[in-house]
Amino acid sequence: MHSFNEYREIINAHLTDLIADPGEEASALAEAMKYSLEVGGKRLRPALLLASCEFAGGSIEEALPYALALEYIHTYSLIHDDLPAMDNDDLRRGKPTNHKVFGEAMAILAGDGLLSTAAETVTGCPLEYYDDPVKMKNHVRAAHEIMSRAGARGMIAGQTADIKGESLEPTAELIRFIELHKTADLITAPVRAGLMLAGADDDMLEKFTVYAIDIGVAFQILDDILDIEGDQALLGKTLGKDAEQGKCNYAFVHGIESAKAELHRLTSEAKDALAPYGNGASFFTALADSLEIRKY
Ligand code: IPE
Ligand code: IPE
Ligand code: MG
Ligand code: MG
Ligand code: MG
Repeated sequence: MHSFNEYREIINAHLTDLIADPGEEASALAEAMKYSLEVGGKRLRPALLLASCEFAGGSIEEALPYALALEYIHTYSLIHDDLPAMDNDDLRRGKPTNHKVFGEAMAILAGDGLLSTAAETVTGCPLEYYDDPVKMKNHVRAAHEIMSRAGARGMIAGQTADIKGESLEPTAELIRFIELHKTADLITAPVRAGLMLAGADDDMLEKFTVYAIDIGVAFQILDDILDIEGDQALLGKTLGKDAEQGKCNYAFVHGIESAKAELHRLTSEAKDALAPYGNGASFFTALADSLEIRKY
């Protein structure tokens, strides 16, 4: 196992490796895609994928394309989330949003390009394992896990509920649906896909799924808290947007103190799920702790 910083460095060193050169006529596409990838970001999701694959005995080399695909999907989700038709944000990762720099049409296309590059990547990898049916199955499972949680039963369903929720009275059930899908799905996908690549058994998959959903929901609850009382310079995005846009923010429904209590409860529950692995899972338990106190 490596440290979080080491995983992040590996990802950053290869971040744009899979971005195609679309030719002179379409060179604006690669430029807009690379801008949002390189401008910053914690790399939480791809680091989780590399770590869970290594934890289950797999290799970083096999996992890296999937990790990059996850960061491409996450980055596309942010570019589209920031568009005027959605959350209308000017600031992301401490820099002007994609549409502010390249215009709305290019921001839509950059998102489309990142999503389709991710699909191309995860469907291409299994093709290398025709002679090894077990590995091929592991790769196909990982690819399906990523694309389904990114899709219309996953992150996109959550984004839809988030947008539709702007004109609804927020309820605890609606908030839970939004957290589970817009955010926890893209945090659960890398954990499960990394394990699947390494051929982990169902018992390990189940324990890590509990962990991933818990830290994923906790991640969105803290995102909601930071929108209210974060430090804009650290966060790299505009504060107070959720109140302005009538968003279903956890703290608006439950109050800020119970949001913090729920963040702590979910973090503890996530760590408890991995207790059977003892210190062997310390990468993941320490990560859960650091996410509970993150400022950005
Ligand atoms: C932001 O995700 C979107 C949410 C799901 C709240 P991150 O906070 O992980 O964004 P980056 O990748 O570090 O910019
Ligand atoms: C974004 O949720 C989730 C996705 C992009 C899938 P938010 O709209 O709360 O994220 P921020 O606050 O803009 O980062
Ligand atoms: Mg949003
Ligand atoms: Mg937003
Ligand atoms: Mg938010």
